[in-house]
Amino acid sequence: MNEKQRLESKQIEAANSSDKKSAKDYSKYFEQVITAPSLKDAKKRGKEEVKYHNDFSIPEEFRGMGEGRKFYIRTYGCQMNEHDTEVMAGIFLALGYEPTDKTEDANVILLNTCAIRENAENKVFGELGHLKHLKLEKPDLLIGVCGCMSQEESVVNKILKTYNQVDMIFGTHNIHRLPNILHEAYMSKEMVVEVWSKEGDVIENLPKVRRGNIKAWVNIMYGCDKFCTYCIVPFTRGKERSRRPEEIIQEVRHLAAQGYQEVTLLGQNVNAYGKDLEDINYGLGNLMDELRKIDIPRIRFTTSHPRDFDDHLIEVLAKGGNLMDHIHLPVQSGSTDVLKIMARKYTREQYLELVRKIKAAIPNVALTTDIIVGYPNETDEQFEETLSLYREVGYELAYTFIYSPREGTPAAKMQDNVPMEVKKERLQRLNALVNEQSAEAMKKYKGQIVEVLVEGESKNNPDVLAGYTSRSKLVNFAAPKSAIGKIVKVRITDAKTWSLNGEMVEELEPVEVK
Ligand code: 5AD
Ligand code: SF4
Repeated sequence: MNEKQRLESKQIEAANSSDKKSAKDYSKYFEQVITAPSLKDAKKRGKEEVKYHNDFSIPEEFRGMGEGRKFYIRTYGCQMNEHDTEVMAGIFLALGYEPTDKTEDANVILLNTCAIRENAENKVFGELGHLKHLKLEKPDLLIGVCGCMSQEESVVNKILKTYNQVDMIFGTHNIHRLPNILHEAYMSKEMVVEVWSKEGDVIENLPKVRRGNIKAWVNIMYGCDKFCTYCIVPFTRGKERSRRPEEIIQEVRHLAAQGYQEVTLLGQNVNAYGKDLEDINYGLGNLMDELRKIDIPRIRFTTSHPRDFDDHLIEVLAKGGNLMDHIHLPVQSGSTDVLKIMARKYTREQYLELVRKIKAAIPNVALTTDIIVGYPNETDEQFEETLSLYREVGYELAYTFIYSPREGTPAAKMQDNVPMEVKKERLQRLNALVNEQSAEAMKKYKGQIVEVLVEGESKNNPDVLAGYTSRSKLVNFAAPKSAIGKIVKVRITDAKTWSLNGEMVEELEPVEVK
């Protein structure tokens, strides 16, 4: 009997003997308390229509649940998770909780987790270990695990078995159910597990507390149908579901009216935006063409898949204006053979052709990428092809990773003849090239004047301000604090490997390099 079955039978037993709850109540309770994930279900892609909901509200009986209580959310992983945290914080506030940035002061702690690589998961298990002490000191504390890890069967089983300090586990499709889940966790002695594996719905009107008032994230779609053979995301985030364009446009207009300077459109594969909107022929190019007319200084998007990056989008991006000239275009490998095993559905040549088209249309574009080294059976020659592609494209930055097997994905079943030592050495060689090209890209800025969106004090020196250029270069410079939240002109005095130093020169006419 596995952990899930054990729990189920325990609860059936409890339901039969309970005189406090009616059978009906119990079946509801049962359904809510242990909806465990299934990777098999998560893999299915049905034809069901996407349902859009605009009716989220805090049920009467839960209002005030958070009076006198504080919440703390720790976020791991990508921007999608960061944005989900903003939504969960919005729900907590609507329930009457107060935020805190100290775990010791919190009455509820959530870990919003990432499943993309094993080390991301290990960090979470480590943190759960630390939190055990807090729970012993404060038995009323609720500890929850949410985000991508909670969508994995193996993780949920491990937590059920060995991390009994956890009170609730809920999935990426269950965020809107947070009030009910908290209620169950307060009522129940058992660990509350509510993870839906298949979800096709989009909920529009969830509350959010955005971090800061300068930059904002806007979801344009959820899920991924690409099923690259190494990737857990299509399992943890469900099928591709696009938000309606009018909802996105309205949200961006609203952010512009509130004074936000930059929006980043989010999706696991933003280039597939609109494919599932059956009543209209509408893609990311159409959406960007509408959004660029909105009076907001900067619009970005992430993350792209080269396969779906179409000519219309390139044509629209070439119009410039508030559409930023930085494109993050994950390549993963420079070898056609490896790309095939990864099921990326493009060749090295097709990728290079896309880069050629983008550069022809947007000559000043900054290209960055994601790369995985040490894929199962990757040969030295195949790795060399990644290095040569890196040089040929002239990327300005990359996020580089050693392949990490993810249970349930096709690659995890592949035999692998590449020793870890070799993988590490390849990563080091690639990183040396990444640093070299980044430093070269930075050097070109010396003496130039750039426009910087000032985000706040520099991390390492509070006397200096920091912000990004349109091409996503970090700039540190001395300026009065009143510049925070504005786009200012900065002359670059010094170039480092990862960042630029400069001085503000507002009154000068720009000699623009963006
Ligand atoms: N192992 C290593 N890196 C991975 N990525 C996704 N899945 C894995 C994995 N199993 C990387 C890809 C992706 C980025 C977000 O994380 O490069 O683009
Ligand atoms: Fe994962 Fe991105 Fe591939 Fe989707 S497109 S499966 S999120 S790597």
